[in-house]
Amino acid sequence: MFAARTNWSLEPNPLSKALAERRSRNLAVLDLTETNPTCCGLSPSHEEILGALEHVRASDYQPDAHGPLAAREAVAAYYAESGARIKPEQIFLTTSTSEAYSYVFRLLADPGDQILVPRPSYPLFEFLAGLDDVTSAAYDLRYESGWQIDRESLLARAGERTRAVLVVHPNNPTGSFVSREEREFLLEICRAREIALVADEVFRDFAWSDNGRQAATHAGVADALTFTLSGLSKISALPQMKLAWIAASGPPELLKPALERLEVIADTYLSVSPPLALAAPRWLELRRAIQPRILERLKRNRDRLDREIAVSAVTRLNAAGGWYAVLRLPGIKSDEDWALAFLKEEGVLTHPGQFYDFSSDGHLVLSLLTSPEAFEEGVTRIGRAVQQRL
Ligand SMILES: Cc1ncc(COP(=O)(O)O)c(C=O)c1O
Repeated sequence: MFAARTNWSLEPNPLSKALAERRSRNLAVLDLTETNPTCCGLSPSHEEILGALEHVRASDYQPDAHGPLAAREAVAAYYAESGARIKPEQIFLTTSTSEAYSYVFRLLADPGDQILVPRPSYPLFEFLAGLDDVTSAAYDLRYESGWQIDRESLLARAGERTRAVLVVHPNNPTGSFVSREEREFLLEICRAREIALVADEVFRDFAWSDNGRQAATHAGVADALTFTLSGLSKISALPQMKLAWIAASGPPELLKPALERLEVIADTYLSVSPPLALAAPRWLELRRAIQPRILERLKRNRDRLDREIAVSAVTRLNAAGGWYAVLRLPGIKSDEDWALAFLKEEGVLTHPGQFYDFSSDGHLVLSLLTSPEAFEEGVTRIGRAVQQRL
């Protein structure tokens, strides 16, 4: 009856079961995994959000496969501030980064073709690829006082059917940016193999230091066909507005057919709501006020975490940006067992590294966006619980 691509195991994992069980008994949970800004007190105000919807043309309907020009001009201006030149005609609005991935996969890959994805990284890639009948193969990120692309593993995984290399800049959850040297390496591979580079930059504006070079955008890169994905869900802390985009760039002989074909894909769905897209220029402007608040929250929680674990057997892995902290825990338990122990015995919800496909055990992922009170109490309990078990 059903397509094989939907043969997922829908059995809840042990952590979800333990969480459901705890909630059914009305036991409190300190959730250190929350990354929804609307649940963390980090949204623009109700008036700022809704005021933007009162655009004079919001009730007209002028279908445009790319999305309304005014919105694309605002996205182009956003990149221009980072020194990247992208024309509005190189931009396609989508309802989410997930949808943007899907458009790009459909553009590039036939059923059974392969996309290279980083590991550890965002757990959704396997699903996004699978829903478009594409396989995802992981190349490793290696940690040696910072995260780097394991070039050998990437070269070993790249094959005849590889159609794109995907990077997350900075990566979720490792918080590592693609370095300038890594970018050169990737572009060389993409050029040589005639494959595309896909750069997910939803967290790019959240570099933890003012190192602008490190957070350089891939938008406008012309050495290989490049698709830069981002959106308002993180940039302006507006996940509820469902507005994202693809910024395509590359050598003219590849960019032109890519834009023509993407236009047909986007025109088939016309999924972006024009009134929402017309509000995008104002919603994008809101980033100037909300990003400093988010960066301050990330720093406050990071500092708190570092103080708490300074005298414990827990370490925080170095990172340069994003909304997460990765902890390394003593190897006396698996990731999952640590997370289960924190939840069942301390009432603290965390994510085991295995959710993000870390290649070894002993990792725990925390959201640094969590409310400072919950975060402080949660990390205190985690630190104490680890010390007690040693
Ligand atoms: C790396 C990465 N890309 C994309 C997204 C989701 O973006 P959107 O809400 O636009 O689909 C997330 C959400 O956490 C993410 O971590």
